[in-house]
Amino acid sequence: MKVLGIETSCDETGVAIYDTESTKIVSEQLYSQASKHAEYGGVVPELASRDHLKKLIPLIRLTVREAGLNLKEIDAVAYTSGPGLRGPLLIGASTAKSIALALNKPSVGIHHMEAHLLINLLENPAPSFPFLTLLISGGHCLLINAKSLGDYEILGQTLDDAVGEAFDKVAKILDLGYPGGPKIEELAKRGDPTAFQFPRPMTNKNNFDFSFSGLKTAVYYEFQNLKQINDSQKADLAASFQAAVSDTLLIKTREAMKQTGLKELVIGGGVASNKCIRNALITGLEGNKIYFPPINRCTDNGAMIAFAGSFYIKNAERTLGLDIKPRWPLSDLNNG
Ligand SMILES: Nc1ncnc2c1ncn2[C@@H]1O[C@H](COP(=O)(O)OP(=O)(O)OP(=O)(O)O)[C@@H](O)[C@H]1O
Ligand SMILES: [Mg+2]
Repeated sequence: MKVLGIETSCDETGVAIYDTESTKIVSEQLYSQASKHAEYGGVVPELASRDHLKKLIPLIRLTVREAGLNLKEIDAVAYTSGPGLRGPLLIGASTAKSIALALNKPSVGIHHMEAHLLINLLENPAPSFPFLTLLISGGHCLLINAKSLGDYEILGQTLDDAVGEAFDKVAKILDLGYPGGPKIEELAKRGDPTAFQFPRPMTNKNNFDFSFSGLKTAVYYEFQNLKQINDSQKADLAASFQAAVSDTLLIKTREAMKQTGLKELVIGGGVASNKCIRNALITGLEGNKIYFPPINRCTDNGAMIAFAGSFYIKNAERTLGLDIKPRWPLSDLNNG
């Protein structure tokens, strides 16, 4: 069975085809709008919608052609139905449903964060349920006990900024541009992670919740104090901030592994591409099995939607009703 996956929840248009027989992604395309939003310092929803509208159909054509297929050979269409930006979600959903109806094939809406989690199951070796999951992205910071497909217990989450959001805001303070995560990581390579003593938020609390807004403000105050900041101080700020995030994620995740007794950890979301954070978790959690997606499958992509779609074919339908859910807690999934 060949599942076409369509991702349009934010500022990436992702399309891919997953083949359940070869258990491989046979073709994938990704177009990032990041440069279009950069001058505004963040995603402008209306611009994102218009760009998805322009790029989605040509990308679907290209993906199908590069797989050596004809559109009629697609067996099902999966699309991101939430959470995400309303306009971009509507464009993905309506395109997916139109294609499915025209081909007389089923379509299925996918939870974006579940797709970030499930993409790890495509790797070899793959984790097996139950496992702990740390989802760190532009809109989320979640620690999850993934008990089985569709059954996710949220152990903790951010009370304010998501991790990626904190990276983006600190990058804005340091005038590095958008998206901030990769820019901070690059600059931090030249900095001293011990130069500034930033807090490790909520690590003394006996729960698995996070808070990154105060950490971002601490960077802002140090930045203000420095007045005429030079490049080396900027790099020190970036490295010290990144170290504080890495430590915080490690401390919370280590405690969650201890308390749940889970020995496998799955990491997903755009921030999972950060090498400093990867290394901190690998080193600090030695003795446990840790799974990261390949770098190109950490941030939003169509492959994760096509692959997640393959698990939910049984829920696929042939209706035109648009069931997008811009707000959709992962814990609401409850086995579909
Ligand atoms: N190397 C990196 N280091 C740190 N952060 C990074 C890195 N690469 C990307 N990011 C951050 O990851 C985020 C984008 O990730 P992703 O595409 O998963 O988020 P999203 O889809 O916008 O949010 P969500 O998945 O929560 O809906 C941005 O905030 C970006 O700054
Ligand atoms: Mg995402």
